[in-house]
Amino acid sequence: MARTKTRIAQVGIGGRAGMFLDAVMGPYKDRTRLVGVCDINRTRMEAVMERYRKRNKYPKVPMYGADAFEKMLAERKVQRVVVTTMDRTHDDYICRAMEAGCDVITEKPMTIDAPRCQRILDTVERTGRDLTVTFNYRYSPRNSKVKEILQSGEIGDVLSVHFEWLLDTKHGADYFRRWHRDKANSGGLLVHKSTHHFDLVNWWLDSTPETVFAMGRLAFYGRENAEKRGMTRFYSRATGHPVAQDDPFALHLDRDERLKAMYLDAEVEDGYQRDQSVFGYNISTEDTLGVLVRYRNQAILTYSLNAHCPWEGFRVMFNGTKGRLELNVAENSYVSTSKDDINLAENLEKEKEVKLQVPVILVQKHWQKPREVTYESAKGGHGGGDVRLLRDVFEGAGDDPLRRAAGHLDGAWSILTGVAGNLAIATGLPVRTRDLVRLP
Ligand SMILES: NC(=O)c1ccc[n+]([C@@H]2O[C@H](COP(=O)([O-])OP(=O)(O)OC[C@H]3O[C@@H](n4cnc5c(N)ncnc54)[C@H](O)[C@@H]3O)[C@@H](O)[C@H]2O)c1
Repeated sequence: MARTKTRIAQVGIGGRAGMFLDAVMGPYKDRTRLVGVCDINRTRMEAVMERYRKRNKYPKVPMYGADAFEKMLAERKVQRVVVTTMDRTHDDYICRAMEAGCDVITEKPMTIDAPRCQRILDTVERTGRDLTVTFNYRYSPRNSKVKEILQSGEIGDVLSVHFEWLLDTKHGADYFRRWHRDKANSGGLLVHKSTHHFDLVNWWLDSTPETVFAMGRLAFYGRENAEKRGMTRFYSRATGHPVAQDDPFALHLDRDERLKAMYLDAEVEDGYQRDQSVFGYNISTEDTLGVLVRYRNQAILTYSLNAHCPWEGFRVMFNGTKGRLELNVAENSYVSTSKDDINLAENLEKEKEVKLQVPVILVQKHWQKPREVTYESAKGGHGGGDVRLLRDVFEGAGDDPLRRAAGHLDGAWSILTGVAGNLAIATGLPVRTRDLVRLP
């Protein structure tokens, strides 16, 4: 008997949209039907849809402007909405879709601040709709392995976690070229980026953040910091500017067909410039951050995020009552300044795993020699996490002993550390997450 296909619509047809488009037009086309797409920018939407439709030999999908979102939901009898817009608009689309009777899949971060978060929680409660937050990092085999080891009790109760995340001068810089550079759009990196990391810690520890303190500043990017380091020649956007020609931080939209079609040719509609100088004015997002968190189970987290490192990856150390677990991951070993590599293009989100000099996962019990833990590695974005995540999202999570599927409460807890951290940075005082939103 033929399966009834879930009628899916997607809003926000930019860079990240492709992962979901490829999934619904490819491996999940027997379970889903993409019945509509929506974006504020028609030129970009058309460019992206053409690319994925051709690649997957998929029929034409009706396109709607942002002012016709509800019309799309009604006209196309949509059952599930995928939200891949700019962060600050997530809450609005999530809530409007749920009010219209749809379930929702949203990209991280679920949203960017406490009032928006409360609106989502209230809407879920009122409508009873289902909200999935796509935390792909939970699914990367090495991160799943860590969960398995912690869950087995091998290192006992976790007393403290030390977590360092490094973004390199290619990927890290990208958050300072476009909308993320304005904290009002993304909640800053402590929400936009760290939502992944705080979600991992919440999930690994099976606990929730209680008290948060943070410090952070724009210390590397931005005009003033560059001037202090002796830079004297500047530009506001890279494409076509003589000063940007040999700047390894520059993104040249006209040197990459895909980026040109998606962003340069589309900017006439909304003024979205994808290639701004990372050493420009008016950057409100911090690039250097430190956070201290006490969890409900009393574990203490020390966390740092730097967006200007020579290599990209992360190190996490768990100290337990019976021993210690270390996770060391290099996603990119260095940033090349070769002309071909300057544009981000396709490989922006692709992982290039390069082994560090230390094992990826190391467990050491008290009084014993360290044990290197092997895990089944996987290909694809985010350490192989993207492919596995999509399987859960479109086929259902089933009875996963690692409980990787994430809903609205996980989404909320994952942003609350960053939201509280932002408040702590602004006030200089520790913040209790319970004072921010009403959560069960
Ligand atoms: N999970 C991950 O690893 C991962 C990776 C990349 C991006 N993301 C997330 O995906 C989302 C999109 O990021 P991106 O890199 O694709 O950005 P992007 O700028 O390339 O695309 C965003 C799209 O949203 C559209 N948009 C903006 N405001 C809108 C509105 N009010 N109504 C309708 N459409 C609107 C833009 O026109 C654009 O097409 C973000 O929330 C980001 O956090 C997640």
